[in-house]
Amino acid sequence: MEILSPQEHSYAHIPVMTIEVIDHLNLQPDGAYLDGTIGAGGHATKILAQLSLKGKLIGLDRDAEALEICKNRFGASAHPIFTYKSSYHNFPKILDKLGISKVNGILLDLGLSSMQLKSETRGFSFNSSGALDMRFDKENSFSAVELISQSSEEELANIIFQFGEERRSKRIARSIKSAKNLLTATDLKEAIRRATPPQKRNKSLARVFQAIRIAVNNELERLNKFLGLFIEHLSVGGRIVIMTYHSIEDRMVKHAFRSLKQSGRLAILTKKPIVPTENEIKRNNRSRSAKLRVGEKLI
Ligand SMILES: C[S@@+](CC[C@H](N)C(=O)[O-])C[C@H]1O[C@@H](n2cnc3c(N)ncnc32)[C@H](O)[C@@H]1O
Repeated sequence: MEILSPQEHSYAHIPVMTIEVIDHLNLQPDGAYLDGTIGAGGHATKILAQLSLKGKLIGLDRDAEALEICKNRFGASAHPIFTYKSSYHNFPKILDKLGISKVNGILLDLGLSSMQLKSETRGFSFNSSGALDMRFDKENSFSAVELISQSSEEELANIIFQFGEERRSKRIARSIKSAKNLLTATDLKEAIRRATPPQKRNKSLARVFQAIRIAVNNELERLNKFLGLFIEHLSVGGRIVIMTYHSIEDRMVKHAFRSLKQSGRLAILTKKPIVPTENEIKRNNRSRSAKLRVGEKLI
């Protein structure tokens, strides 16, 4: 079991399956690596520890607050680390800027961080009372309140059904759309409460909040774009390591890897996804839905 240092505990986000991620990246000390969802830099710290001063780590995140944490965390690091506020599917443009043609490995750790989930002001959790925002990047996309007000009842039901896999989607969408002045996470929670029976209500709450977050941030579209382009920017022998927390995302990764395997470009190193050990789940309940898939570029 990995023991976290007291300093690592001070960062609210505990990185998931760190040992498995680092093993599968097969890090070369002088290599260039992309952490497309650097967050608080939990995995990035472990990557940097294995790089020489010639190695490079490029860290991206859509969330300016996360990058600020990284700046403080890595500010004094002698290792070359380049952080940018960007969606991971734009990484080829960033590589261009840095004059790097290909990287030796890529990590995506999708979903949201514990800092985001625990934030009282960002509305990601049904336990928060703050404004219903849910944007990873506060500059770009529109907020959850805007998504809800601009969607029809039918569109909202589809979002809840497709991205949240919630079968009471229509009833919940009706209740949300009929709520007056829905502005906070508490208001959304109350609208969902009115449309669901008390048993397993927390599951419905989690599914609806997740669905709206995915829609607000265009998460599946960004993943789809990335899956269509990453192979061109990975060196032969380089590894792609993707951790998902949602069955739709896991299926997208599985299918993209399969089709690259069929064209002879990628070897799949994980026939079945790797999942956290029971010990890890006990230590970090948030890891329970994680699935890790790994591929190695052939040609
Ligand atoms: C699970 S956290 C990553 C945690 C990180 N691996 C660590 O150990 O600290 C996921 C991160 O992905 C970021 N994110 C989500 N969608 C993104 C996208 N399209 N491009 C870049 N970052 C994204 C979120 O803002 C969040 O910080």
